[in-house]
Parts: sequence; C-alpha cells; structure tokens
Amino acid sequence: MKKFAVFGNPVAHSLSPTIHQMFAEQCDVAISYDKLCPPLEDFAGSLEHFFEDPHAVGCNVTMPFKGEAAKLATRLDHAAQLAGAVNTLHRQNSSMRSEDSRSEVSLNGYNTDGVGLVADLKNQAVALADQRVLLIGAGGAARGVIHPLLNAGLKTLIITNRTMAKAENIASQAGDSRVVALDKPGLAECRPDIIVNTTSASLGGELPDLNNISFTQCQLAYDMVYQAEPTVFMKQALELGAQNAADGLGMLVEQAAAAFTIWTSMQPQTRPVIEALRQQLR
Ligand code: ATR
Repeated sequence: MKKFAVFGNPVAHSLSPTIHQMFAEQCDVAISYDKLCPPLEDFAGSLEHFFEDPHAVGCNVTMPFKGEAAKLATRLDHAAQLAGAVNTLHRQNSSMRSEDSRSEVSLNGYNTDGVGLVADLKNQAVALADQRVLLIGAGGAARGVIHPLLNAGLKTLIITNRTMAKAENIASQAGDSRVVALDKPGLAECRPDIIVNTTSASLGGELPDLNNISFTQCQLAYDMVYQAEPTVFMKQALELGAQNAADGLGMLVEQAAAAFTIWTSMQPQTRPVIEALRQQLR
C-alpha cells in the first residue's frame, strides 16, 4: 500500500488525511495517510525516518516546517522556489548507499497553495484575466500564491501589509511589473476586483486594517482560512460592499488535489470533497 503523511506541529487539526482518503476512494486506490508531529528541532530526522519505508511515496508539510522542507528537497518547482516554502514532497528515486546501507532519498519539492487558490477562485466563478487582485498580508501564504495568480493573467497584483517593508520586499522580488506594494493613500485610489486576506488573523477573530481598502468593485472577498461559520473578514467585506465572500476550505481541498496528482498522476474530483467537509464543519 502506498504511504503518505502530513508533517506539522501542531498537526492534530489537519484535514489532509480525510481529504486524501476521499480522493483515494474516488480513484479506487488504497493508501495510508498519517498525521506526524515531529519535535520542532527534528523535522529532518522525522522526514528521513518516514522515507526509510520503501512504500512512502510522498508527504504534505504544514506549519512550521514549510521553509525547512524547501531546504531539504533535492529539487524545487518554480512556485516553491519563489515562495521559499514547500507543502508537498514527492520521492523521486532512491538508491542504497553502500557504506552504511541507508537509503538516500531524492525528494522533489512543490508548493501547490497557489494553484489551489487559483482553482478555487475558478470554482467561485471568478475570472482572473485582466483583473486587479489585492493581497492583504505579506507572509509565506502571500508569497506562495503570487506567481500562480500572475500566470492566470491578472492585470495588477497589489500587496499591502501591516509592515509595509515586507510587502515592498515581496513586490520587488516578484520580478514582474504587474506586482505593486501599496500603503494607505495608494490603496484608497485602487478598486480591486478580488481581495484576498492571506493573514490568519480571522482565526483569532481579528481583522487586518481595512480602513483604506475600497470594496465597492470587489466581486469576491476571499479569506484563506476557514471556520464553521463565515469568518470575521468575510462578514466585514460584505458589509463594506463586496459582492461575495468565500473562505479557504476550497483552496485547502484544491491544493491537496494538486498534491494527489503529483503523487499518483490521477485527478480527483474536488467538489464532492469540499461539500462533504463543509457538512462536517457544520
Ligand atoms: P504565513 O507564513 O502563514 O503567511 P506569517 O509569515 O506569520 O504567516 O505572515 C503573516 C502575515 O499576516 C504577515 O504579513 C502579518 O503582518 P506583519 O508582517 O505586519 O507581521 C500579517 N498579519 C498577521 N496577523 C495580522 C493582524 N492581526 N493584522 C494584520 N496583519 C496581520
């Protein structure tokens, strides 16, 4: 049986095992998928131990190990390189080291968060081509989605953040003239079509500063996190004039589907999984 896992600390909350078992059932393959919680200082050791099993095909990586996973991967895809973060590892090949007979594993590292977001925006019937998209927040979650969004043909990608230097840093590293960092005065002038909250503030019931953001042209306000109820950001965005609001449950399932395809070459259907998880959350 092919073996998978998600590494995180904490990891108990992770829905990844449920999602991947649903995909496996759809695709008629038997898999095992565990939650693994390595000590903060020993992700590398736990990963090595996991891949000592020849049935271990791949794993997901969540907080706080995504950056370290990028360093441990043998090769990185474009999105992972640009994000400096990996959420999916795939065993490429292994050979036996003759001197100590331990297997040497070659791991390809991917970041599927951005393609997950783009796929879920499409699920919400939002076209991305020629649109102005505003990202609020400039951490790893924002970094991970920039290039898949640009590849979808955006007109402008605006980044704003509580600490503006971080937004400016991301914009200058993006290497694309469509990416700009804007602080309050500039924000007041631009009317984004799509606004994405990449911060996890909603999980603590907090809002980023929305004072200078215009929601009047906003077709969709998207919160990357999800909860049983609409998040505080979704509610506030609707009050401020956004036409629609969505949480990040669909992105979670779509990024998982992209990982499943990397591992198995099969493309699971995401909609029934999103619907089943939504029911479970309620
Ligand atoms: P991740 O890697 O999950 O994106 P992170 O690197 O800690 O997490 O980044 C979180 C981002 O959300 C940061 O841009 C942070 O703002 P700062 O750069 O000023 O720290 C932003 N953020 C988190 N909580 C926030 C809050 N309550 N209000 C506004 N911004 C917040």
